[in-house]
Amino acid sequence: MEYNNILVSIEDDLAIVTINRPKKLNALNTATIKELHLAFKALQKNNKVRVIILTGSGEKAFVAGADISEFAHFDTKQGGQLAAQGQELLFDFVENLHKPVIAAINGFALGGGLELAMSCHFRIASHNARMGLPEVSLGVIPGYGGTQRLPQLVGKGRAMEMIMTGGMIDVERAIEFGLVNHITSSEELLDFCKNIAKKIAKNSPAAISQAIKAVNAGFKNDVHGFEVEINAFGQCFGTDDFKEGTTAFLEKRKASFQGS
Ligand code: COA
Repeated sequence: MEYNNILVSIEDDLAIVTINRPKKLNALNTATIKELHLAFKALQKNNKVRVIILTGSGEKAFVAGADISEFAHFDTKQGGQLAAQGQELLFDFVENLHKPVIAAINGFALGGGLELAMSCHFRIASHNARMGLPEVSLGVIPGYGGTQRLPQLVGKGRAMEMIMTGGMIDVERAIEFGLVNHITSSEELLDFCKNIAKKIAKNSPAAISQAIKAVNAGFKNDVHGFEVEINAFGQCFGTDDFKEGTTAFLEKRKASFQGS
């Protein structure tokens, strides 16, 4: 598929999605959000792909936020629609994807950019990364899940301070907050993410998909996380991956998972 705002490359069982508007610091306009939705949807269906890495193009930014030029003249109805559509098409979609998505934060991750990184299953950052939710400086609040996911990741008080000040934190602070898992150099960022992705790709895709569902359930109000876990655990017993994983262990060999 041809995209104008993103690049998608597939290397063996790993996909790399790059937001490619470097002149606009990869700001998320509606077209980019739609393309990301289509790309993630296609990668979810692609049986070859086991892990996805999401990053930004250029040396400066992961994503510097939602594209301010697009919504500067919106009214209340359009503002609400912007948030609802974005959350459905991209942010919730990525969080609930059946395959792991790693955010490789290679620079500014601000506003919608940090919200997108927080929708990914975990985050790795380069030394030059800066993270923040500056929306209140524009007279709005985070609308792509930031008021919910930031407190989940860093705690309510820290999230309140970040949201109220609109300030940026550096990677040392981000790691202390638990917002990113690892810090590396800009040059090594993608390889660092690929190494983790390769470890993940050795495990059962069917089980990983159930694990994502169960972990996410703990952060939703309308489902009971422990019940979702029990059900997801049971589902694993009906998969070929489970037969292969347990048989391989008993036969003292490495498992070879097909993902069903
Ligand atoms: N939406 C639209 N355009 C954006 C953007 C955004 N969120 N962030 C950056 N850009 C554009 C700039 O307008 C500029 O475009 P231009 O060259 O056509 O004028 C280009 O990207 C480069 O940005 P610039 O501001 O010149 O870079 P900088 O290094 O001086 O500053 C930032 C970098 C990230 C501090 C600054 O761009 C910024 O504050 N961006 C907005 C962050 C924000 O508020 N995000 C939340 C949005 S809800």
